[in-house]
Amino acid sequence: MTVIAQMLGTKYPVIQGAMGVICNPEMVAAVSQAGGFGVLGSAFQDDAEELRRQIEQVRALTDKPFGANLTVLNPRCAEMAQVMVEMGLKAITTSAGDPGPLVEQLRPHGVKVLHVCPSVGKAVKAQAAGVDAVIAEGGESGGIQGPDAVSTMVLVPAVADAVSLPVVAAGGIGDSRGYRAALALGAQGVQVGTRFIASTECIAHQSYKEGICRARTDDTILVGRTGRILVRVLPTDLARRIRQDQSGELAASIPRQNIGKAWLHGDLEAYTLAAGQVAGLVREVKTVREIIEEMVSPGEA
Ligand SMILES: Cc1cc2nc3c(=O)[nH]c(=O)nc-3n(C[C@H](O)[C@H](O)[C@H](O)COP(=O)(O)O)c2cc1C
Repeated sequence: MTVIAQMLGTKYPVIQGAMGVICNPEMVAAVSQAGGFGVLGSAFQDDAEELRRQIEQVRALTDKPFGANLTVLNPRCAEMAQVMVEMGLKAITTSAGDPGPLVEQLRPHGVKVLHVCPSVGKAVKAQAAGVDAVIAEGGESGGIQGPDAVSTMVLVPAVADAVSLPVVAAGGIGDSRGYRAALALGAQGVQVGTRFIASTECIAHQSYKEGICRARTDDTILVGRTGRILVRVLPTDLARRIRQDQSGELAASIPRQNIGKAWLHGDLEAYTLAAGQVAGLVREVKTVREIIEEMVSPGEA
């Protein structure tokens, strides 16, 4: 058993990445039931009652450990963290911004903090801030990226050398080959996002899942509003138009509130569909249990 599985109280060191509204309680619970660590996508949740409800929904489906995601950039971060404590979560993932204030708030309650770091420098800072583990997230992953993002293959060993904390690898992991490679690079566990979107239990719209199953490894593209904060997405018509628009006006004109229209209801003109390069390795929708069991299997020599 790795230190990450021990820390999280799970059978396997497999963390389900936070993915906003498509981390439905059924999928989170399914990940935990299958031996991984399910995570609610509550980074920008600002409704305490809704968060409580979601935690209760997961708990009604599993007695196994699960967590939630939070960022200090959420104006109601401290309040949401308090709800997580009251509801008995034992570990959370944090991303973007200084995890220090969350560590201070959560540590006295015994809640572990695993911070997502896209660079060695941020991992070193997160360690100084007192986090329990760092999640080294390479640039091939789905979701938000910096323009100079480093690949998982390079980032994970570099972070493992730079910090004395357990390291979790994220970005590009979708099967047993990626899982074993991550452990060989010095990680004690993996965080998986894109592969779980194409799962039976994920609430993402069918067209999102099909987009992932259809994508080739070089299909995902980086789009953004500012050039500093980019998002790796599937190559929908909207994503291509955003990329071509040098002014950035099209990206800026799309409200964040549109996410649900696209991710849950399949309106591909409403918002882009975040996904990582590993989509190129995903061919079919499978159950969460099938995905996790294949991932941690010894595989071919
Ligand atoms: C659709 C989508 C939404 C995401 N949203 C978040 C988020 O809200 N907070 C976060 O920390 N990471 C977020 N991520 C990153 C994932 O949690 C995870 O680290 C990443 O997907 C791992 O790379 P992979 O996609 O190659 O598996 C998101 C990723 C995707 C694909």
